[in-house]
Amino acid sequence: MTKIRWGLLSTAHINQKVMPAIRNSHYGELVAVASRDEQKARAYAKEYRIPLSFSSYEAMLASDQVDVVYISLPNHLHAEWMIRAMQAGKHVLCEKPFVLTIKEMDEVTRVKQETGCKILEAFMYRYHPQTQQVIELISDGMIGDVEIVEGVFQFPLKDAGNVRWNPQFGGGALWDVGIYPLSYAQLVMGEPPIQVFGQRKLTASGVDETFLGQMMYTRGRQAQLRSSFSLPYETRLSISGSAGRIIIPRPFHNMEDHRKICRVDASGKEHWISIPRFDLYTGEVDDLNRAILDNRDPILSLEETRNHLRTLLAFYVSAEKNRPVALDE
Ligand SMILES: NC(=O)c1ccc[n+]([C@@H]2O[C@H](COP(=O)([O-])OP(=O)(O)OC[C@H]3O[C@@H](n4cnc5c(N)ncnc54)[C@H](OP(=O)(O)O)[C@@H]3O)[C@@H](O)[C@H]2O)c1
Repeated sequence: MTKIRWGLLSTAHINQKVMPAIRNSHYGELVAVASRDEQKARAYAKEYRIPLSFSSYEAMLASDQVDVVYISLPNHLHAEWMIRAMQAGKHVLCEKPFVLTIKEMDEVTRVKQETGCKILEAFMYRYHPQTQQVIELISDGMIGDVEIVEGVFQFPLKDAGNVRWNPQFGGGALWDVGIYPLSYAQLVMGEPPIQVFGQRKLTASGVDETFLGQMMYTRGRQAQLRSSFSLPYETRLSISGSAGRIIIPRPFHNMEDHRKICRVDASGKEHWISIPRFDLYTGEVDDLNRAILDNRDPILSLEETRNHLRTLLAFYVSAEKNRPVALDE
């Protein structure tokens, strides 16, 4: 079988996690890396044993030796490079948050339709057997009707020069880590919220250092999220239903540290469930590989990605106005 040829568009830190997944995939291979700096690209290719290196992103997009690009740029550059990649005929796996505005989302969607390229927002936890187990427990009625989802993703961001502190680069805790519980809540609820209410603590530079959010769904269902760059590391998610709860100590990443989830039944009894070992980043890589090979859309749809964005933008409007707002208000 001819393997799908992947190129890394940047030398970002996150590449370290995604490279093994590309390499271990049955369907793809890692063939190239591009950097804005020629020396950096060459040194990176040597260090990670990548056959081709390109001294600019444009040069990699012009190459006929690359089929898919993995975009791991700072958030404000995602839309531009996704569009340029598709216009050069490349499929795209792009890091979260996919884009920062509805205008960008519309443009990316238009170019996708025009070019027929496959594109996917990189939400690795979606494909982990743990997430699949959670969704199965809910659809099997093990906790009754879902009423509330609560999620936390926070960590201390100590590096003062990090792009996540820069408002021009799509910085802020909600864009960076709040998007995880936000997307998980959407997955569980099967739809975006109808209304949100967000409150934040801003830095002097104008990004949210901490963001707390409340999401209201149809049938009175609700979700809450907490994200922060200034509090001690914590991730967790819990889902409460009419007949029990599910507690997920590692919902988004670092699952290897704790591969167990807990179902609490209506009487309060805990049932711990072990989750099989799984390379976290393989699922997103293979979803895109299979979408290309089978000429279908990826499992995580563009509509879901658009709804992540609509919810995020509504949160920022809500925090600005200090009141609940409807989506797209
Ligand atoms: N899914 C996950 O688990 C996960 C985890 C962490 C981050 N992320 C996402 O991945 C993306 C990258 O995050 P990261 O922390 O890995 O990034 P990073 O280490 O800061 O790297 C970003 C790369 O972008 C390139 N770049 C181009 N223009 C730049 C500019 N003006 N300033 C800085 N870098 C620029 C640089 O590569 P060259 O110098 O080689 O051109 C740089 O190495 C973000 O969207 C983030 O949200 C996802």
